[in-house]
Amino acid sequence: MGAEQPLCRNEADLRKTILDLLREEDPGRLEELWSVADRTRKAFVGDAVHLRGLVEISNRCGRQCAYCGLRAGNLTLERFRMSEEEILDCAREADRQGMGTVVLQGGEDYGLPAEWIASIIRRIKSETPLAVTLSLGERPQEELETWREAGADRYFLRFETSDESLYRAIHPLLPDRPVHRVEMLQRLQALGYQTGSGIMIGIPGQGYESIAEDILLCRRLDLDMIGVGPWVPHPQTPLGSGRLKMTVGPGGQVPNSELMTYKVIALMRLCCPEANIPATTALATLDPDRGYELALGRGANVIMPNMASMEYRKRYEIYPKQDFLSRTGSTVQNIKTRIRSIGRTVGTGPGARVAGSLKRDVFPPAADELNTHAQCWS
Ligand code: 5AD
Repeated sequence: MGAEQPLCRNEADLRKTILDLLREEDPGRLEELWSVADRTRKAFVGDAVHLRGLVEISNRCGRQCAYCGLRAGNLTLERFRMSEEEILDCAREADRQGMGTVVLQGGEDYGLPAEWIASIIRRIKSETPLAVTLSLGERPQEELETWREAGADRYFLRFETSDESLYRAIHPLLPDRPVHRVEMLQRLQALGYQTGSGIMIGIPGQGYESIAEDILLCRRLDLDMIGVGPWVPHPQTPLGSGRLKMTVGPGGQVPNSELMTYKVIALMRLCCPEANIPATTALATLDPDRGYELALGRGANVIMPNMASMEYRKRYEIYPKQDFLSRTGSTVQNIKTRIRSIGRTVGTGPGARVAGSLKRDVFPPAADELNTHAQCWS
């Protein structure tokens, strides 16, 4: 797709603009950034906020990612796998609540046969009008093909960071099955999946230049969906406990803050104006009362309410989120109220990305409003 051909006339200028904005602290300039991101969101994807019903089907995982609480080495976590009927019930509930998409997410659980997942996809597709998104990690090509044939519409796999050495340090390869995530994303696109990816913000060792490169990479990949959330330390992980220490270059460490996450969401919107961009749960855990609203006002257009029972949600502990779960603000009804309270509408239907919805060269006038900063977003 777009990966081979840079969309910007001058990527070097764009990189510099992104870097300046990532370091911007002036409140007036930041207001401009939020405002131009919001107007770009409205022009390209409209006022609808699409809801995706999230079903975390298994917290078993064979990987040892240094950031994630589901890592195989976390022996303190009580593991679960949902049954087929439980998953179907969640999907039906998402449909009843008016959502157009169900997202089946899980750790890399090799105990879930590909054919079992395929049969669930077929049942959801035949019993409901839902679009099906899979978020099941690094999987062999045959499984990706099987699931696409079974009717899966979308696949979501974050590349986490474009800094190869940081990525390798925090995400040990499977020795017998090395997967390069960017390459896997391109294979997903070739299979006809609408493809999503994204990053964590503020991973120890992550520098500003690498975040600028992450944003440019999302743009080159021409992603349909981009998920951005802060790294949240989990005490039962090497990174979260501080056992694994990372060093960062002279440009300094990117903070895993709410503000930095909003900056990246806004910049992703400017660089990938047609993409669906969620206000993520990781962000909402930092500010349960205002996180969704602020993200939606700064470029985001998707929320992924969790459909599973509280018992499973508590055990899907990628990062600590007890505080967030104990609030009622994340129920579907509350989320709909929150969306409407900021003058937005609740999306209907699958809410797929519409490519070519506006010509890319419509955008520079909006970028001009950032005058000294932006020369060539599109
Ligand atoms: N903090 C924030 N996000 C995390 N993820 C995994 N662990 C953490 C953490 N500690 C994110 C990764 C992964 C997704 C499923 O959750 O980006 O791709």
